Amino acid sequence: MSLNNIGILGMGVMGSNLAYNLANNGERVSIYTRSIEKLKNIVKNDKSHLIVSFTSLEDFIFSLKKPRHILLMLPSGITIDFLIKDLLKFLTIGDVIIDGGNSFFKDTQIRSQKLLKKGIFFIGVGISGGEEGALNGPAMMIGGDKKVCYLLEPLFQKISAKYNKEPCAEYLGTDGAGHYVKMVHNGIEYSDMQLISEVYFLLKKFLKLDNKKISNLFSEWNQGELKSYLIDITSKILLKKNKKGKYILDLIEDCAFNKGTGLWASQNALELHAPLSLITESVFFRYLSTLKSQRMLASTLLTGPINNFIFKKENFLQFIEHIRKALYLGKILSYAQGFSQLKFASKKYQWDFQYVKIAKIFRAGCIIQADLLNKIVKAYTENNKIINLLLTSEFQEIVNEYQKSLRYIVVTGLKYGIPMPVFSAALSYYDSYRSEKLPANLIQAQRDYFGAHTYSRIDKEGIFHTNWVKK
Ligand code: 6PG
Repeated sequence: MSLNNIGILGMGVMGSNLAYNLANNGERVSIYTRSIEKLKNIVKNDKSHLIVSFTSLEDFIFSLKKPRHILLMLPSGITIDFLIKDLLKFLTIGDVIIDGGNSFFKDTQIRSQKLLKKGIFFIGVGISGGEEGALNGPAMMIGGDKKVCYLLEPLFQKISAKYNKEPCAEYLGTDGAGHYVKMVHNGIEYSDMQLISEVYFLLKKFLKLDNKKISNLFSEWNQGELKSYLIDITSKILLKKNKKGKYILDLIEDCAFNKGTGLWASQNALELHAPLSLITESVFFRYLSTLKSQRMLASTLLTGPINNFIFKKENFLQFIEHIRKALYLGKILSYAQGFSQLKFASKKYQWDFQYVKIAKIFRAGCIIQADLLNKIVKAYTENNKIINLLLTSEFQEIVNEYQKSLRYIVVTGLKYGIPMPVFSAALSYYDSYRSEKLPANLIQAQRDYFGAHTYSRIDKEGIFHTNWVKK
């Protein structure tokens, strides 16, 4: 019996589509799951005839070439640990377990260390692109033992998305680096989605545009600098009707859920002291949106401004252009924060990130793929040590110009009671970041007053304390 190149455990839609993708690329794949029905179905639909299914874990493992490569496509958390325990009964030194799910990077770090003691390599690969990406080419962020990852890289590059023929799969760093980058990718995904949703609401509630007009605007914007996967799908979502001719979007309950990667990105930002306000605010928005019954009650008790604004035609078009620019700047600020967090993490976890590689991976296959990434690639090609993308020549001019639009949109939205949490966070971050002086001196004085926490001074070296109550 000839042995297979890779085994996949977990036959959800991502797992099965990756199996097809590998097989379509000429790889012999073993698959295992407990559901015989599922296995039969996958094998039936496999046109390459390179997928072999197993109902026994032992047979599945012994069907693989050594060193064995086993890709786990499972929900993050304890399930992975249980499976690793089962796998260890059959694996031998040098075998490789690859976690392709959205696992928490610290879990990946712990698993790598534990397994290494047993001679097993644990590789964490962030895979982005949903069902479609898994089947036709996802973006893949690889982290783990350098030698093992470099051996695996060609396989991942073969099945990954390509941007101008360049594969969107790269080795990024040791242990949890791949899952960390995927976590930040998801954070940016959250804020991108949120900014688009705030624009949608502004266009709908403030300008009273219907779905078709909003969709047309997004399609138009998708021809220019805003071009991205999320803008594209939004224009399509807005037009989709059910059999009764009703827009599906209008029938969806306004409560947004999550599987935790945005929360992890925000939690980690707090730990690293990295300002990640746009992403964090996007997470909070999702939480707030689910307080539906409270919101229903509050809407009957709490008041706000009345939107009676009427635009003249030329002002209307100008306003739309301000929205477009504000959205683009919001996106830039969100990426700037995300990449800045990567820099904090690279130092803390000693990953020595090459940011140009990360930006390149994001250009195709993944959810946050956008034209904007070409500018980011250019900036990091010139200098891997960038402190913040906002300070680069690539972005300075556009940011200085578009901040006027961001300000105008936020001020208008807030004036008329349209909630814009992430646009507001974007502007606050921008204004704080560009301020030579902030009122943090007062915070330091207050801390010193009630807790003798001390402060440093601008006119002298050293640490100071004042007895604030003594006359
Ligand atoms: C991707 C996505 C994906 C993520 C979903 C759901 O890159 O393909 O990030 O991995 O799981 O988008 O995320 P939430 O349920 O947290 O919104």
